[in-house]
Amino acid sequence: MFKICFLSGFLLLALLCMCEAQEVKVYELKRGDFSAKFTNYGAIMLSLILPDKTGKLDDVVLGYDSLNDYKNDTTYFGAIVGRVANRIGGANFTLNGVVYKVVANDGKNSLHGGRKGFGDVIWTVKNYRKDSHITFTYDSFDGEQGFPGNLSVSVTYMIIGTNKLGVKMVAKPLNKATPVNLALHTYWNLGGHSSGDILSHTLQLFGSSITPVDDELIPTGKIVPVKGTPYDFLQPREIGGKFNQLPNGYDINYVLDKSSPKHLRKVAVVQESKSGRKMELWTNMPGVQFYTSNMLKSEKGKDGFVYSIHAGLCFETQGFPDAVNNPNFPSQIVNHGDTYKHFMVYRFTAH
Ligand SMILES: *[C@@H]1O[C@H](CO)[C@@H](O)[C@H](O)[C@H]1NC(C)=O
Ligand SMILES: *[C@@H]1O[C@H](CO)[C@@H](O)[C@H](O)[C@H]1NC(C)=O
Ligand SMILES: *[C@@H]1O[C@H](CO)[C@@H](O)[C@H](O)[C@H]1NC(C)=O
Repeated sequence: MFKICFLSGFLLLALLCMCEAQEVKVYELKRGDFSAKFTNYGAIMLSLILPDKTGKLDDVVLGYDSLNDYKNDTTYFGAIVGRVANRIGGANFTLNGVVYKVVANDGKNSLHGGRKGFGDVIWTVKNYRKDSHITFTYDSFDGEQGFPGNLSVSVTYMIIGTNKLGVKMVAKPLNKATPVNLALHTYWNLGGHSSGDILSHTLQLFGSSITPVDDELIPTGKIVPVKGTPYDFLQPREIGGKFNQLPNGYDINYVLDKSSPKHLRKVAVVQESKSGRKMELWTNMPGVQFYTSNMLKSEKGKDGFVYSIHAGLCFETQGFPDAVNNPNFPSQIVNHGDTYKHFMVYRFTAH
């Protein structure tokens, strides 16, 4: 009798622990009228609410009403994507003489870490203070989606000062060298998530070159200056201004100027005139994938609003796409004993 009780008690406890580990919840960071919500599913940023120039609050990131909608989405709304964000051509690469086949989930290529990348796993909450920060961790295992070695990953979102959000991504290989390229896949609309398209936002992007791609969005390996092309945002201008020359919009990696893995520098400034909101983006990464949500189609989002093409803007700071197959791109290989560090700071104002 004692034995049965003990055993069933133990089982119950084990089950409770398992449920606890799997529980998906929403966490808020809030300081004054600046607030953001996150979930440990995919370490996703669910919302970011801040005032416009009149003090009116809006949520400026696209997303869904229900956590379940994030579980099988094809948009990657707000997710931390990895182990290798963006595309790996042919879903394979060679490292230290070994060919690694990773999961192909975009035709024959791999996208954002494979079919079940870091945006589709449950993370653990390590540190949470509502007025300050939250840290999510994930232990990626050797062979997960085809990638080599165990990798310990953490993502911290933090409110800094007034109306600034910091993001710190850290990854440590535990036994083998592996490529690491994490990115935060937030879709922004500074007029409010349901205000329509982003074509009249203005953008200044401090990237003098791009890495052109083939028709499967795999880099050709070239690095080409933007000067005089529709990709040139070195001076601020309307995002939609050259859509007559680029009818599908932007989905391209910019080579960011003044690259330094150790120092943050301002890489983009986005403004929306009606709300007066302005967002500066700072990072230490060498590249940014600039995407004008060209593939969004009738996506049923928050508050029942349906997002159409160009409803949001993504600035996925990261290494260059398919760097694992392009020796002339900055390497994304992190050796056992080394640490990957990716910083982002968003600075918001409204005038
Ligand atoms: C996700 O959607 C695909 C089709 O788009 C479906 O085949 C698959 O079963 C879905 N997975 C889950 C976990 O709902
Ligand atoms: C690796 O990808 C290339 C295309 O980038 C392809 O030609 C090759 O067959 C692939 N190799 C393996 C082992 O899958
Ligand atoms: C790698 O992860 C597995 C579990 O996923 C664990 O059993 C193993 O001990 C880990 N090895 C190292 C060196 O961390």
